[in-house]
Amino acid sequence: MRKKIVAGNWKMNMTPAKAVELIDSLKNEINSNEVDVVVCPPFVCLPAVLEAVKGTNIAVGAQNMHFEENGAYTGEIAPSMLVELGVKYVIIGHSERRQYFAETDQTVNKKTLKALEHGLVPVVCVGESLEERQQGVTIDLVRLQTKIALKDVTAEDAKKVVIAYEPIWAIGTGMTATSAQAEEVCAAIRQVIAEVYSKEVADEVRVQYGGSVNGGNANELFNMGNIDGGLVGGASLKPEFASIVNYK
Ligand code: G3H
Repeated sequence: MRKKIVAGNWKMNMTPAKAVELIDSLKNEINSNEVDVVVCPPFVCLPAVLEAVKGTNIAVGAQNMHFEENGAYTGEIAPSMLVELGVKYVIIGHSERRQYFAETDQTVNKKTLKALEHGLVPVVCVGESLEERQQGVTIDLVRLQTKIALKDVTAEDAKKVVIAYEPIWAIGTGMTATSAQAEEVCAAIRQVIAEVYSKEVADEVRVQYGGSVNGGNANELFNMGNIDGGLVGGASLKPEFASIVNYK
């Protein structure tokens, strides 16, 4: 039985002080062990958030990292830096990084491998644009994105990866995918993992849905057979995040 995982991607929002206020407002509401809960603040908020979540069930993730160990990569953050802080998760290949920062399936693969090497759990984002959905290529595209992201990842490591299916047209638009649409693609992701590895691996990998998840739709989405929780943007910046975590 897969444990659900709900992660909040704060994107480029909050300051360290505001981040602590948000955690303080959430922590008494988030106390179930049934769901893995992760918040992913901007890099500069990580130390304050790691301190603020002490003694709670909330884990902390980063929104990105570089695939090199260190070196002349101005402005970048290496995996070892995150690990030393106490970060456990890292979002890889969010569509905003693909769109605005030229990340590709290949860099997503390099980052996934490097995160696993450092013991970080990669939350690998895949998903189609509206145009791609209208062209009917969603499943093929998401299958390919998943396959490339996991290239050279061992079966044991693949089990640790979280895949976040985020249709780009649903991100920040209020246009949530229907639970049937989300389930169809999450099932296809699990299917391709079964083909590449085995059913045993596919049954362990957690596949999230992301895109306008809120307190009102989380329950229906997260109760679909292949949806193991969510990657939440806008609603993770508000106390509403607790109601998403406590979706049942
Ligand atoms: O990483 C989170 C997603 O991009 C979803 O964002 O919940 O604001 O639509 P959203």
